[in-house]
Amino acid sequence: AAAGAMGGDDVVRGELGSLHGIPLYKSFIEGWPKVEAFQARPDDLLIATYPKSGTTWLSEILDLIYQDGDVEKCRRDAIYNRVPFLEFKTPGIPAGVEMLEKTPSPRLVKTHLPVQLLPASFQDKDCKIIYMARNAKDVVVSYYYFYQMVKIHPDPGTLSDFLETFLSGKAAYGSWYDHVRGWWEKRQEKRLLYLFYEDMKKDPRQEVQKILRFLGKEVSEETMARILHHTSFQQMKKNPSTNYESMPTNLMDHSISPFMRKGTTGDWKNHFTVAQNECFNQHYRQHMAGTDLRFQMEE
Ligand code: A3P
Repeated sequence: AAAGAMGGDDVVRGELGSLHGIPLYKSFIEGWPKVEAFQARPDDLLIATYPKSGTTWLSEILDLIYQDGDVEKCRRDAIYNRVPFLEFKTPGIPAGVEMLEKTPSPRLVKTHLPVQLLPASFQDKDCKIIYMARNAKDVVVSYYYFYQMVKIHPDPGTLSDFLETFLSGKAAYGSWYDHVRGWWEKRQEKRLLYLFYEDMKKDPRQEVQKILRFLGKEVSEETMARILHHTSFQQMKKNPSTNYESMPTNLMDHSISPFMRKGTTGDWKNHFTVAQNECFNQHYRQHMAGTDLRFQMEE
């Protein structure tokens, strides 16, 4: 295949590798030594999520807060350049670590790493972290479409096949349970703010206020209104700097499914059969035993 300037290499579906027991893209694993050795700065803010949990939404909210609500400044570049993806590495595109080294402080850093794999430097520098979790049923549906449109993933098969992959912890980034529970345990530390996609959907103003308090920032009412408007699903869907349409199509194919797909809570009900839901619920009860972490799964 001819290599273009940006990500021209053909991305071929392949099996995931394993990073300390976590299923992950092989190209990311190749880049791991530099991620593990990553030098955080004390004023870095880490945005951590399991995939498909509202990472892009939270990232846009944070960049707007950092730019004091200046919508034009937030259009300066695509979201994946404004908020570099720490462990990202794929042929033909600058790796996350390289991008971060060139990013002036204060940096916003995106990661999907489970808490046990977080590079030590974030702890050492006592960086603030915002984690956002989303209910497992909507995550699995969103992830199913994402697997189809992003060809770095193995073929997901049918939704039934993918439910099995997801529940058995074999999707990229591994077990959703371990991810949300691992980060939940860490929230005792006051430098971690744990948010929920469903809360953000229900009352974005309240959640943005939580973020502002956590960051020790204040904004005017006008700025708040601008942030809320600009980060609504409809606005972000049509915004080229947030909707991922600038990604090379060999990486992301929006004709299969748009990145900004639906943006709702409870879409799983349009996808799960009664039997799949019962099976899911049973698995869920077993794997969420002994935690006080609770999710809203319906509108
Ligand atoms: P759906 O596939 O359910 O629509 P991530 O950014 O972590 O990959 O998450 C992507 C999911 O967040 C997608 O979910 C996407 O539509 C949704 N999303 C993105 N921006 C959003 C917004 N402003 N409001 C609500 N949902 C949003």
